[in-house]
Amino acid sequence: MRSSIGIGTFAEKIAMRIDILTVVPELLESPFNYSILKRAKDKGLAEIFIHNIRDWSTDKHKKVDDYAFSKGAGMVMSIEPIDLAISELKSQREYDEVIFLTPDARQFVQNDANQLSLRKNLILLCGHYKGVDQRVRDNLVTMELSIGDYVLTGGELAAAIVADAIVRLIPGVLSDETSALTDSFQDGLLTPPVYTRPAEYKGWRVPDILLSGNDQLIDDWKHDQAYERTKRIRPDLLGKK
Ligand code: ADE
Repeated sequence: MRSSIGIGTFAEKIAMRIDILTVVPELLESPFNYSILKRAKDKGLAEIFIHNIRDWSTDKHKKVDDYAFSKGAGMVMSIEPIDLAISELKSQREYDEVIFLTPDARQFVQNDANQLSLRKNLILLCGHYKGVDQRVRDNLVTMELSIGDYVLTGGELAAAIVADAIVRLIPGVLSDETSALTDSFQDGLLTPPVYTRPAEYKGWRVPDILLSGNDQLIDDWKHDQAYERTKRIRPDLLGKK
């Protein structure tokens, strides 16, 4: 028996299945047991399985890495356990993508999340040590993603981020008020500022227009604010669409 941690209950309703391959499964337990991901699982909309790559190691010490052929390059994740893990999963169902999380890849953006949320079965492979044997990338992986230009200890937190961004887009996961359609980036702009009661706190007032009750004026104001905020903080986003 493999020690995979399964999260997902109502198999017949499941919209998406994500299998995560890691050498540190403990790192991924908590993100998938809280918040949106927990809700998706409870509603039977997503199933997430976390697998320990060591379970496929044929080495008597359960080793999953080895010295790089090039001197001084550190430890590299070996191909065999990863190949065995992916082959076993693929023998059970078809996968749309095998995604490797690594800093030396193109950056994951909202459009990737949109596209991937339409898929049914995904494998996320988390890198560790000084990377994986290049033959994994050349022959087993179909997509490589980085979450940003900084290096994490491993791909686990990146996998949690990618899974969260995808799963929250599955229809039914978010309620209408929190609809993903109004997210930052969906229309190429950052979101406008939001306020709640009280209308005045320590003399800091909510903009009068939001108290006007005029929906058209409020919508125009929100759009102007979103545009101004984007121009100030992320001018690179303007002109992208
Ligand atoms: N693994 C280590 N750093 C990473 C990053 N920035 N993105 C994805 N996977 C990673």
